[in-house]
Amino acid sequence: MTAKTATSASDSVSARAVAALSGVKSEPGITKPDEILVAENINRHFGGLVAVDVDRLSVQRASITALIGPNGAGKTTFFNVLAGFDTPDAGTWRYENHELRNKAAYKIAQLGMVRTFQLTKVLAKMTVLENMRLGAQRQLGERILAAPFPFAWSGQEEQVTERALTLLRRFNLYEKKDDFAGTMSGGQRKLLEMARALMTDPTMIMLDEPMAGVNPALTQSLLGHIKELREEGLTVLFIEHDMDAVRDISDWVVVMAQGRIIAEGPPASVMRDKAVIDAYLGAHHDEELTKSGESLTQNKKAKST
Ligand SMILES: Nc1ncnc2c1ncn2[C@@H]1O[C@H](COP(=O)(O)OP(=O)(O)OP(=O)(O)O)[C@@H](O)[C@H]1O
Ligand SMILES: [Mg+2]
Repeated sequence: MTAKTATSASDSVSARAVAALSGVKSEPGITKPDEILVAENINRHFGGLVAVDVDRLSVQRASITALIGPNGAGKTTFFNVLAGFDTPDAGTWRYENHELRNKAAYKIAQLGMVRTFQLTKVLAKMTVLENMRLGAQRQLGERILAAPFPFAWSGQEEQVTERALTLLRRFNLYEKKDDFAGTMSGGQRKLLEMARALMTDPTMIMLDEPMAGVNPALTQSLLGHIKELREEGLTVLFIEHDMDAVRDISDWVVVMAQGRIIAEGPPASVMRDKAVIDAYLGAHHDEELTKSGESLTQNKKAKST
């Protein structure tokens, strides 16, 4: 597919996602027309600190939703809870028709919802291909009874390798397949983590700051990959500080501050919302959030000094 057709196809998918969301009011917790994930009354505290206190989150299927908010807003903790890596003090959440409370992370992944981490968890002393193969689930060869009989699982091993190589080609990491993952740049590790998450053929992918620490050229390629996932019908929920990236690819933006969802809506209008600007930069100013994450960071630094 040429770059041009990829863009126009992605635009049409984007247009459909935007159209589906166009009648939706910009209200925290609002129900989406075709929701794939719904979370209600999620509360997680650490001692006296309330990290997450979300009344409701509804995520539209086959669209890209950004979860934004200042440092410490509770975004990663919320992700941890939703994906089964942490247990909330209260709350219920549902993915498709499955209640997820008390479900382990690997079970949630088997249901089709996978996530990546803010700090990448690629294994430095394994090769890129081995990292990918680890992403495959329910491998017959891992079952104790089948393990001594390679003939029972070698066909599946080949399929896993084939899928891994296909994904590595797609993410421009094929040439690196035999390198130790530890030799890759931060951006390449982010790509590897995204590729590895796709090994299980998920229907929804949650990305925690996929662009953090990634150089501008690789950022463009990452953004392209995320749009392609939507084009294929995947639902994407991603945490990001880079407002240019958020504006570029999101169909809908949800804003967290101090554990709560304080606003949501289409990117352009959310970034003009006074409550959102205040949450990011503190009250008493009238700037729009139309800057890159870098300028926001500079603003935050200026504020804290
Ligand atoms: N395991 C923990 N123990 C104690 N406090 C924690 C723990 N994990 C997170 N917190 C606190 O909970 C709050 C929310 O943290 P969280 O990492 O979810 O924020 P975030 O929105 O992801 O921030 P950032 O944008 O900096 O990644 C913070 O005040 C943080 O210090
Ligand atoms: Mg975080």
